[in-house]
Amino acid sequence: MSAKIIDGKETARKLRETIKTQVENLKAKGFTPGLAVVLVGNDPASQVYVGHKEKACKEVGFHSEVYRLPETTSQEELLKLIDNLNNDKNIHGILVQLPLPGHLNEKEVINKISPVKDVDGFHPLSAGALFVGEKSLVPCTPKGCIHLIKETGFDLQGKKAVVVGRSNIVGKPVAILLLNENATVTICHSRTKNLKAELLEADVVVAAVGKPNFITGDMIKPGAVVIDVGINRLDNGKLVGDVEFETAKEKAGWITPVPGGVGPMTIAMLLQNTLEAAQS
Ligand code: GUN
Repeated sequence: MSAKIIDGKETARKLRETIKTQVENLKAKGFTPGLAVVLVGNDPASQVYVGHKEKACKEVGFHSEVYRLPETTSQEELLKLIDNLNNDKNIHGILVQLPLPGHLNEKEVINKISPVKDVDGFHPLSAGALFVGEKSLVPCTPKGCIHLIKETGFDLQGKKAVVVGRSNIVGKPVAILLLNENATVTICHSRTKNLKAELLEADVVVAAVGKPNFITGDMIKPGAVVIDVGINRLDNGKLVGDVEFETAKEKAGWITPVPGGVGPMTIAMLLQNTLEAAQS
């Protein structure tokens, strides 16, 4: 059996079209949603991601501001910029691209972002609200994962979902979102004793470990929905996920490719979160 491919690129394109129409309607009423993206330093991957975010904002008609700050930026300078953006009426969403250079205190920076503009959903208040089931801005990649699973028509209710990875950005929030859909959720990580045994019981797998081709076809339950969050660049320049696509697609029922799976959804959800923040 060969799995059906979950086309994140096309799903994200459709979402961007819908958002663009909504933005046109808002602009006709004299209101433009605005997103500020802050990048500190020269990390090549971050530069690419921020470029994609900037382009997507412009395409849907947002007011877009991108702050590309030098590696030497101090904590005080960064906090001051966030303070200014928190008070800027034209800015409804603020995103500080991670990771920050080592001398900066990431937690303090995230905590400085006003929760109502926290379109990444990384602020402890946003994370706490998600945890207790209150309305909040939900982290973009996890939100994109759930959207893709739902789009397959797969009913999560009562199904066994295994999340591999426990980061604050993906693993933990995606586990909560799956729980909200009434799945039975297991979170696996680097200390998990028998990952293969856990995965072989999973109707849904969300892989977010950051290790190329870590999950292979022999670890997948036949027919499972496999969502691969990993974006790993090999020495030969090729981009691969955390799941070994060629072997996993022979076992899975549905699978996301890398690239073209979860990646484009993250940006579509960022746009959706910005629109939501602008309208609240
Ligand atoms: N770095 C990798 N993924 C993300 C993300 O979703 N948001 C931010 N701010 N930084 C990231």
